[in-house]
Amino acid sequence: MKKNKQKYYHIITYGCQMNEHDSEKISWLLEDLGYVWTDTKEDSDFIVYNTCLVRENAELKVYGQLGALKGLKRQNPDLIIALCGCMMQREEIREIILSKYKHVDIIFGTNNIHKLPQLIHRYEQTGDTIVDIIEDSREIVEDINANRMYSYKAFVNIMYGCNNFCTYCIVPYTRGREKSREPKNIINEIKELTSKGYKEITLLGQNVNSYGKTLNYNYSFAKLLREINKIEGLERIRFMTSHPKDLSDELIEAMASLDKVCEHLHLPVQSGSNKILKAMNRKYTREEYLLLIDKIRKAIPNIAISTDIIVGFPGEREEDFEETLDLVKEVRYDSAFTFLYSIREGTIAANMENQVPDEIKHNRFQKLLDTLYPIFYEKNLNYENKIVEVLVEEVSKNDPNMLTGRTRTGKLIHFKGNRELIGQLVDVRIDKIKTFTLEGYLV
Ligand code: SAH
Ligand code: SF4
Ligand code: F3S
Repeated sequence: MKKNKQKYYHIITYGCQMNEHDSEKISWLLEDLGYVWTDTKEDSDFIVYNTCLVRENAELKVYGQLGALKGLKRQNPDLIIALCGCMMQREEIREIILSKYKHVDIIFGTNNIHKLPQLIHRYEQTGDTIVDIIEDSREIVEDINANRMYSYKAFVNIMYGCNNFCTYCIVPYTRGREKSREPKNIINEIKELTSKGYKEITLLGQNVNSYGKTLNYNYSFAKLLREINKIEGLERIRFMTSHPKDLSDELIEAMASLDKVCEHLHLPVQSGSNKILKAMNRKYTREEYLLLIDKIRKAIPNIAISTDIIVGFPGEREEDFEETLDLVKEVRYDSAFTFLYSIREGTIAANMENQVPDEIKHNRFQKLLDTLYPIFYEKNLNYENKIVEVLVEEVSKNDPNMLTGRTRTGKLIHFKGNRELIGQLVDVRIDKIKTFTLEGYLV
């Protein structure tokens, strides 16, 4: 790139924390090349869309955005437009992009982010559209840094890919087979973060409970947690996502005994009906899931539990849905992500014949929310008048005098305070309860 003119970049990220963290890596690579972040697409010399394919909405948004960029590219022919992320791992989508969105210059995937500087160079030399995808990589690239969004909390990958093939899910087809990072690389990364003052880390993987299975030696997620817990300066350890089928007693014991592991577990249930769980290939029953919740609550009484639920999976009858409502009432979740089932071409469920009509899906979805929200509120009532430890995250978006942060249990807290507290652990007494947030004051 030319040395005389400052170049600017902008990244738009869709999807999960895995993608967010990949965007932090892309940002680091671009800044290493001399690019500087800008908030606006109009000022950008380089725009990256880091895409997600998990539901149709995410996919449609990208096509919409790309259409709108045509004009910008006409005004500024030097603008480079790059696409990456999970959508790009699918050949049929790359073909759509190449035939309909000819203003896209660089396409790369989830396994070759580290090659971006090379791809940019090739594009600048040739002006040709560059497509570079590794379908399923066996290797893990370690020497790539990240330009992290926050200075006090960070994502750390512990594994990539997924081997579970839940029948509705596209992730195993975009992120490839499961591979675990070497424990020493993970631990070194966290030590480096804590030496820079980071207090909280979130360990990322599609199924962290099966961490270690692809290593050449015997190693478990619980063991990894025990090692990370020893790291000086680190205050909080979080992780996601746990698959119920692999949540071991060893892990529950580790969570209960390790002081830095937060009292929060995200344990996606997806459905409360055994028939649907089987059709989803989740490999546990409703009874096994409930037993697990029981065990966890006995070991860690104050733990907050959250989940993911899909409504309208093919073949879901009214009685199956009622079983999901019953389960939700029995578990009493602290929070939940709820989704309308979305057909993903290439998955097994996409070809199931008994798809649920949209109107029924929407009705059930609303009923599910109407059941969940009062439970969230009641769970939050337990915090009334309590003093909680909060990691201060940022100035509230709605009120410049207010700060927001999270408890160890993952609750979002608003309170009055000076922005100098950002990144610190403070004690807050809770005096106002809402469904999704709590309010309080510094003590
Ligand atoms: N690996 C994680 C989740 C990855 S995707 C896990 O197994 O828990 C995040 C959530 O998206 C899933 O838990 C599921 O609830 C939802 N999801 C995945 N595919 C979907 C689809 N086709 N339609 C609707 N929701 C879906
Ligand atoms: Fe998708 Fe299931 Fe893998 Fe999660 S465990 S990423 S839902 S296939
Ligand atoms: Fe994440 Fe979406 Fe890919 S949820 S793994 S970015 S398909």
